Amino acid sequence: MNRAPLGIAVLVSGHGSNLQALLDAAAAGRLNAEFRLVASDRPDARGLARARDAGIRAVAIPPSDYPDRAAWNAALEALLRESGADLVVLAGFMRVLGASLVAAWAGRMLNVHPSLLPLYRGLHTHRRALKDRQPVHGTSIHFVTEELDGGPVILQAQVAVRPDDTEESLAQRVQAREHEIYPQVVEWMASGRLEWRDGGPWLDGRPLDAPRRV
Ligand code: GRF
Repeated sequence: MNRAPLGIAVLVSGHGSNLQALLDAAAAGRLNAEFRLVASDRPDARGLARARDAGIRAVAIPPSDYPDRAAWNAALEALLRESGADLVVLAGFMRVLGASLVAAWAGRMLNVHPSLLPLYRGLHTHRRALKDRQPVHGTSIHFVTEELDGGPVILQAQVAVRPDDTEESLAQRVQAREHEIYPQVVEWMASGRLEWRDGGPWLDGRPLDAPRRV
């Protein structure tokens, strides 16, 4: 049976290399998705230009245009709803979303976080992993819940840390893995292999009790 493409909205704040990986996967037929919207809190985000280049609606929604955080969250929530997306994909989106927005998209919002969660929630993950002399670092794709970087993890890619790694070299290898696993997880959603059921993730018809690791 052929499924309809998954409608997705992508939120970016910066470079948008993960967005590009999703666009490339869809163009190559590896991801059955239709991009309904790319939005950014930063009008100068490279990700917006990537979206425009691909003929996708690109919208800047800077918090400074709104009287307060609640108004900005409400505007973003309306924008996402009106886009008709089935799934919201956070791809390097650097703002914390309000509780009502997160609740509205429960089980339908994914994030990529550059660490092996639950290790290193928050910022500067590569620096912290190096400081702790971790032999292995990596990146995680997870469902977004109200707890920052705390939602159920779906898939993680592990990256061996080299003795001569810098924050930059490690970040580069971690990102390369993100570009593989993020389109993969979005495709799992698109194909119906991955779903949110009874308040948690299910993969291939079974509760996903622990993240898959590659
Ligand atoms: C990624 O490394 C992601 O893990 C983190 O921000 C970075 C975004 O990169 N949340 P890009 O904008 O997709 O290039």
